[in-house]
Amino acid sequence: MGSWRIEQTPPIQAEITVPGDKSISHRAVILSALSNGTCVVTGFLPSEDCLCTVNAMRALGVEIEQPEPTTLIVHGCKKQLTAPAGDLDCGNSGTTMRLLAGVLAAQPFQCRLVGDASLSRRPMRRVIDPLTQMGAKLRGEGTRDTPPLVIEGGPLNPIHYVSPVASAQVKSAVLLASLFTKGTTSVTEPIQSRNHTERMLAWYLLRPHVAELTVSLEGDQMPESRDFQVPGDISSAAFWMVAAAANPQSHLMVKNVGLNETRTGILAVLVRMGAHVHEIVQSEDGEPTGIVEIEGAKLKGTEIRGNEIPNVIDELPILAVAGALAQGVTVIADAAELRVKETDRLAAVATNLRAMGVHVSETPDGLEIYGGTPLKGARLASYGDHRIAMAFAVAGMFAEGETVIEDVECVATSYPAFYETLQQLTRERQQQIPVIASLPGFEQ
Ligand code: S3P
Repeated sequence: MGSWRIEQTPPIQAEITVPGDKSISHRAVILSALSNGTCVVTGFLPSEDCLCTVNAMRALGVEIEQPEPTTLIVHGCKKQLTAPAGDLDCGNSGTTMRLLAGVLAAQPFQCRLVGDASLSRRPMRRVIDPLTQMGAKLRGEGTRDTPPLVIEGGPLNPIHYVSPVASAQVKSAVLLASLFTKGTTSVTEPIQSRNHTERMLAWYLLRPHVAELTVSLEGDQMPESRDFQVPGDISSAAFWMVAAAANPQSHLMVKNVGLNETRTGILAVLVRMGAHVHEIVQSEDGEPTGIVEIEGAKLKGTEIRGNEIPNVIDELPILAVAGALAQGVTVIADAAELRVKETDRLAAVATNLRAMGVHVSETPDGLEIYGGTPLKGARLASYGDHRIAMAFAVAGMFAEGETVIEDVECVATSYPAFYETLQQLTRERQQQIPVIASLPGFEQ
């Protein structure tokens, strides 16, 4: 399996774009596939995870053309899916499996959803429970209802579901299932999770109603076919934003990046840590999209906990690296969800930071990171988890000596071009594309 060798790098001076948002790409495929006509999805993320969703929808009878990697022409099936010939392979993608579980619970046929070794360890009861309450018949074949997931689809009833977890995947599974019911379904979550499904339901003219932590949707509706533009993924930009924020000589501008308010928590955390951050929303069509500009600083430790956690859930590994580069203590708490991601991310981050010479304590739901001591290059495992591989590649950019990240194929699930961008950003300064002009009001 492949590995990356990373050396300490000079400051970043660059303008970049990042590939399409993973969460939004999945949802654009699913909702346009259910729609009543042809939808062109641009800015699509052609990564392994999102292609699992495309291939699953194709196996369910939806015609999807891909004239170029980031463009899909989706011929909506008017909610008339057909039984697949075999198992639906969700690969490493929890979003594919959980969102499709919602759609498939309501179909008049049986399906089996399978995944790789990591996905086969991830909890599915969180979607099995609400869908069962709606009348669905589904079960996990693994111990404790882990995948493969067998779904015997059938008619469903609307419910009011009070979710015990702040999970956009759970909320979305229930809302997608509700499209096939008669009556109003609502989902209440304990803390606001990312709201891409709600926004996209509205874009496809399905009128969800949002009141604080409850989303309600009238059933028996069909998405109205419309084109959709996917913005760049702020969770992919996060790696470069931290790389720039932690070096006082760095200056980075990320263009065409998603700035949905349920995803921009990382910007607030970096500001608390002392970085100079400025963002401008340029378009509100479907999803807020714009520019983020960052000038680095000597970072200081911070606390990340409570309601902020779902907003930064995928950024916590790279924020832990930011904590290691900052002076003082960084505390991450209320983040037990990280233990059931692609790997146990709390354990993986603690192990890798320690290998780089950082003092870290691991708690049941978080980490305490004692930052400010120089990082030492080390040989690190990715644990088959894309965000661990990329977070520690950035740590390697700051470490003395060489850092080797092993088993890096996993980055293809969300950011296939990550290493190319890393090489582009770590070339000598004069070879980088400099930031041409700052955002108005960006003053140091
Ligand atoms: C996602 C939601 C989050 C996130 C995952 C993608 C989504 O998971 O960690 O990478 O697209 O809905 P949860 O909703 O389970 O927290």
